[in-house]
Amino acid sequence: MTKPKRIRKAVFPVAGLGTRFLPATKAVPKEMLTVVDRPVIQHVVNEAREAGIEHFVFVTGRGKACIEDHFDHQFELEATLAGKKKTRELEDLLAELPEAGRTSFTRQQSPRGLGHAVWCARDIVGDEPFALLLPDMLHHGTTSCLAEMIEAYEQTGGGNLIAVSPVPDDQTHQYGIVGVEDAKAKVSRVTSMVEKPPKGTAPSNLHITGRYVLEPEIFPLLAKQEAGAGGEIQLTDAMITLSRDANHPFHAVRFDGTIYDCGSKVGFLLANLAYGLERDDLGPQLRAALKDLI
Ligand code: G1P
Repeated sequence: MTKPKRIRKAVFPVAGLGTRFLPATKAVPKEMLTVVDRPVIQHVVNEAREAGIEHFVFVTGRGKACIEDHFDHQFELEATLAGKKKTRELEDLLAELPEAGRTSFTRQQSPRGLGHAVWCARDIVGDEPFALLLPDMLHHGTTSCLAEMIEAYEQTGGGNLIAVSPVPDDQTHQYGIVGVEDAKAKVSRVTSMVEKPPKGTAPSNLHITGRYVLEPEIFPLLAKQEAGAGGEIQLTDAMITLSRDANHPFHAVRFDGTIYDCGSKVGFLLANLAYGLERDDLGPQLRAALKDLI
């Protein structure tokens, strides 16, 4: 088996309007809402960095400039922390900053769906396989979900990968769903995919969790892709087309950790509690306060 091309770049579609979080998201992008003390997008970028990603590609939109600022130096703040000898705080801040030249920002100029957002990154990604991480979905486990996928990518000898996890049958219509050869295996060949199947028609209960490794051949398909579910250009539809070519197999990688859908209010609140409870500096106090509250 030849060694597959390394996954160096990750795409983060961050153009969504966040209407479900109004009025919080009127002037603040939903990706900048905090889970404990980091914006949601920082958690997801950290997951990608843990997986060895070198270049971070953000597909943004109008009103999202503070995401770009977040991943840059903040000179006054850094100088103030240094002046006050707050070395630890300064080091922590700098540790999460991507290296100079390792971020790219492009804009999705109109909200035409996830497939269109990914297509907007085509020139920056170029002709190499890449990772795609949907920032709403926080994957919380002992290891980075994307790192597990990249390990699987090396085992399968390349191709395309989708992270999946089971959802209750009455929720399958809210997600992309995949059918697989062996539902119990950690990595299994994908046999079917469908975006938001009507209730009762899903091929399985394994939902697409928002982590992908994709070959660049997806881009020309996205360019031709017609609007699908919800009138949007769907990534899943282009993946279905690509999977019909035997040279571009798809595997599902089952994620066994917990996924918090921060696009929903309950998911977002739960993520704050779960991430807070596991922190040494906050967990004990938070646990006691929650017991009192409930
Ligand atoms: C997108 C994908 C879907 C996936 C979901 C995960 O849907 O199209 O396949 O299951 O993200 O969050 P959206 O949430 O953008 O409707």
